[in-house]
Amino acid sequence: MTTEDGIPGFALTRLAPAKINLALHVVGQRPDGYHLLESLVTFADAGDRIGFSHWAEDRFTVSGRFSTDLPLTGEGASGNLVLRARDLLRAHLVERGMAAGPVHLHLEKNLPVASGIGGGSADAAAALLGLLELWGARFDRGHLQDIALKLGADVPMCLEGRPLIARGIGEELEGLPLPSFPILLINPLIAVSTPVIFRTLTNKTNPALVIPRGALVGSDWIEALKDMRNDLEPPARILEPAIGAVSDTLIEAGAAFVRMSGSGATYFGLFETADERDAAAAVLSTDHPNWYVLACNSVNGEEDHHGRH
Ligand code: C5P
Repeated sequence: MTTEDGIPGFALTRLAPAKINLALHVVGQRPDGYHLLESLVTFADAGDRIGFSHWAEDRFTVSGRFSTDLPLTGEGASGNLVLRARDLLRAHLVERGMAAGPVHLHLEKNLPVASGIGGGSADAAAALLGLLELWGARFDRGHLQDIALKLGADVPMCLEGRPLIARGIGEELEGLPLPSFPILLINPLIAVSTPVIFRTLTNKTNPALVIPRGALVGSDWIEALKDMRNDLEPPARILEPAIGAVSDTLIEAGAAFVRMSGSGATYFGLFETADERDAAAAVLSTDHPNWYVLACNSVNGEEDHHGRH
């Protein structure tokens, strides 16, 4: 699945790529309870997809393996993020005298819900970008990031969709060059609640994320990752001891580097070659038919993105 593939019958389609926290350090906590993070993030070339069309009235439909796990209204803090994004963006456009007419949005939910790979956040970001395009609206990038942050701490980074370092609660973003690499995402289909993981975390002032200059380019960049951590992995393993098996299985399957993403329970394995990744995916899918297994690549962040927006 690529961004080029369109959902049949829709005026435009956007990919909402899975987010992968290559490292996630928790370095403090704000007075409002939100945690201060330093995270090295990349994105997959696969994820959910959203279709957009002008319509006679607002309409929202869903499909895909995980669509039954979704809220179908946008009301409340736990409402569907696609609809919350639509409503928030529309309110901002209408306030500025711009048109934001009725739309049919279709969410193809391919990513497991509450799985640490930012599915809901990616959906919200893709909805914002797709609706801006459909409505032909121009919007200041900084303002769009502010709207994104209102929808969730991970939504601003999902708007970028390229390798980056995120700081603060996820609103301070710095792009960085990172090569594309073969990756396997594995989830034992245990849903993990992000607030519960943060509440279980005991040490909130861990060492900072240090990325030595030049460490992430060249062949030893995977070595550099080994000095970094995901500070949410210990509390996730305490809450859900079964997820430790996923890490062990990926290592046995030959991954060069294995770690949990976000607040879990998805683990990712980095592979030297696509063939090794595909062989591991075949073995894991056979041995664990109830697990979610996605073979993909990370996006290439080595191109110059300056002025892309
Ligand atoms: O921002 P988002 O809605 O994705 O966050 C869900 C919950 O995760 C927050 O309500 C908060 O409890 C917790 N969280 C946190 N620190 C962050 C991000 C999220 O404590 N940086």
